[in-house]
Amino acid sequence: MKETKVAVGVVGATGYSGMELVRLLSSHPRVNLTYVAGHGESVVSLAEKLPQFVSLPSLNLEPFDVEVAAKRCEVVFVALPSGTAGAVAVALWNKGCVVIDLSGDLRLPQDQYVQWYHLPAVAAEAQKQAVYGLTEWHRREVSSANLIANPGCYATAAILALRPLLDLDLPLRRGAVVVDAKSGVSGAGRKPVQAFQLAELSDNFYAYKVGQHQHTPEIEAELSGLSPLLLNTQLLPIARGIFVCAYVPFEQGVDEAVFHSLYARAYEGEKFITVLPPGQVPQLKHVLGSNACHVGLNFDSRSRVLQVFSVLDNLQKGAAGQAVQNMNVRMGWLEDTGLSVLSMFP
Ligand SMILES: NC(=O)c1ccc[n+]([C@@H]2O[C@H](COP(=O)([O-])OP(=O)(O)OC[C@H]3O[C@@H](n4cnc5c(N)ncnc54)[C@H](OP(=O)(O)O)[C@@H]3O)[C@@H](O)[C@H]2O)c1
Repeated sequence: MKETKVAVGVVGATGYSGMELVRLLSSHPRVNLTYVAGHGESVVSLAEKLPQFVSLPSLNLEPFDVEVAAKRCEVVFVALPSGTAGAVAVALWNKGCVVIDLSGDLRLPQDQYVQWYHLPAVAAEAQKQAVYGLTEWHRREVSSANLIANPGCYATAAILALRPLLDLDLPLRRGAVVVDAKSGVSGAGRKPVQAFQLAELSDNFYAYKVGQHQHTPEIEAELSGLSPLLLNTQLLPIARGIFVCAYVPFEQGVDEAVFHSLYARAYEGEKFITVLPPGQVPQLKHVLGSNACHVGLNFDSRSRVLQVFSVLDNLQKGAAGQAVQNMNVRMGWLEDTGLSVLSMFP
């Protein structure tokens, strides 16, 4: 029997996450991509604006209109900047669409949002009803949600790395768990910024938003047993990818096998999460272009610190890939529908 397709839209399709959504959705077997909206004021061919989509000649880029979007789509992905996205997501949700918002606007309680994003809060009721879409840890809530707050890219990597430890009953040493995180520059979006020009970015490396990164409270909310956390965010001179190494100090020595069996249990059967065997650490090139997250573990017995490494593609598992994964869960489809592509290598 032929499977029915669902009408889906993308708002913010000219941004990096929006483009990745178009790329994934245009070949998703259960999706009819019926609405693609940008920031402009007139209708243009999508391929004219974004030549990588020349093989999708029937798609137009339209100005955003909530009535048109709601009429044409059952599911809408909102890939707009924080501060703009929330109101659009809530308007579409109020019109009856299933909405997956990639921004930070609906992930945090209002007071925390104002404190970390320095923006006016979005509707409190909508924020309360939005389900946090870290799929592996919130699958049940996502399966019935009409408003999904897709997690941040750093947050996804950090939470996937550390969440299994909440089920371990071993005392931590005093002091913060450190999440040392590095991202490729597409994490900052497509808007032109002087610091991201080739001459300034290439052969360079530095920390940014020190002590102030807006993903901190979102990570702490999911890892309450490990907070407060110290999140250190750094910019890698590459296009895509997030590399996290989290440092967790233990009171006493622990057999590393304990951690391996804990993580193997936590991620058993998960299609997108691979826990690497002892002695292996993950690499970005093993996940780029795919929705995979690879996790590696090392217990340093001299310092009694557990290192947890995780890598993912910020535009895939860190954004569009996880958003599609959430749609698959919400629609009751196989979770990897349209997401089975392997990483690009080299
Ligand atoms: N990049 C990542 O790795 C990543 C990962 C996870 C989550 N996210 C989140 O996903 C969202 C999109 O991020 P991105 O990196 O894809 O951003 P981006 O590349 O800067 O794209 C932003 C999109 O929003 C449109 N836009 C910008 N300002 C607008 C406004 N005032 N009104 C309407 N449309 C507007 C842009 O249109 P124009 O092209 O016409 O400017 C573009 O389509 C953000 O909330 C971000 O936090 C991003």
